[in-house]
Amino acid sequence: MNEREIFEWLKEVEHPAQGDRNIVDLGIVDSVVVGDGRVTVTLAFPKRPDPLKNYLVGAARSAIYRHAPGGTEVEVETIVKDPAPKKKTVNDLTLEGLANVRHIIGIASGKGGVGKSTVAVNLAVALARQGFKVGLADADVYGPSVPIMTDTEGATPEIEPADGTDWMVPIEKFGVKWMSIGYFAQPGQALIWRGPMACNALKQMILQVKWEDLDFLLVDMPPGTGDIHISLVNDIPLEGAVIVTTPQDVALADVEKGVDMFRNKNINRPIFGLVENMAWFTPEELPDNRYYIFGKDGGRRMAEHFGLELLGQIPIVQSIRESGDAGEPAALSSRPDGLAFLELASRLVAAVNG
Ligand SMILES: Nc1ncnc2c1ncn2[C@@H]1O[C@H](COP(=O)(O)OP(=O)(O)OP(=O)(O)O)[C@@H](O)[C@H]1O
Ligand SMILES: [Mg+2]
Repeated sequence: MNEREIFEWLKEVEHPAQGDRNIVDLGIVDSVVVGDGRVTVTLAFPKRPDPLKNYLVGAARSAIYRHAPGGTEVEVETIVKDPAPKKKTVNDLTLEGLANVRHIIGIASGKGGVGKSTVAVNLAVALARQGFKVGLADADVYGPSVPIMTDTEGATPEIEPADGTDWMVPIEKFGVKWMSIGYFAQPGQALIWRGPMACNALKQMILQVKWEDLDFLLVDMPPGTGDIHISLVNDIPLEGAVIVTTPQDVALADVEKGVDMFRNKNINRPIFGLVENMAWFTPEELPDNRYYIFGKDGGRRMAEHFGLELLGQIPIVQSIRESGDAGEPAALSSRPDGLAFLELASRLVAAVNG
């Protein structure tokens, strides 16, 4: 194995936020040194933090391990180098608004109505309760739920022009920064978008926002697994995803679509785990009873089937629906359902840092 070969291997590592150009062509690979069963690669990143830096370091290491003879030691170092002038990416938006966001995580599902927005909103609140700086982008341009679930309907994000971009300032409540296309629609007005417009609108909800310093930015993805998703995952530097499902066996096929969306070779982003929503029903007056109305352990079986961690099980309880409708997320409470979301948040943090 020689330097030239290793450069070839590293061309398999694409930068998802740079139109999938590989790290060699992008000039990120600064140097490769080979000797004594040991490969040392240096990746150069601009001063502005690249949210995908850790991902690219890991991907570069895996690419070399894939090809190198067994036992080769691989070291990937990073240095800071002044960037070439920044190119505008998505409809003339840069990734600048995400510069100080450490983890961008998509909350996805194979199909609609499984409680994805409920999980996303409560996860955001639970992370904030644990002291993290959190934002949530409601990328469901067809049916934005964040304004209702947080009782921020009618709030209007301020616009701050800077560097030729009109930055939207997120709405802050419960210690979370919220952004939703719902803030730009008249209450009750149906949002009708054609494919490409929907796609651009939702990218704006993520890229044209003044998030500032965040530990976690959660993206409530639109339901389904279509072109919009692929394009979103390509243009937004999602670090990985969480998949929400209900426990029925028939949901397996939907989860598979969701899993494929992130694991297919063009996207290849980690899935931090599965959340089983509506895992059992607990009536308010019998808080210790569990009725497995969609079947027991479906989530656990699915997680095993796909080799995913089961990050959490959220019961169906009336208070989750009611608190969603009332705009007072369940994760604010110390009821069992609130604690379930706090535990989910802890597991996610561990999975992301793991
Ligand atoms: N664990 C739960 N217990 C009780 N009600 C729940 C639970 N999870 C979700 N719901 C309720 O189910 C409905 C659908 O949930 P939600 O809007 O979160 O689903 P979604 O997957 O985001 O849907 P969509 O695909 O339309 O975006 C809401 O009324 C919500 O309050
Ligand atoms: Mg939703």
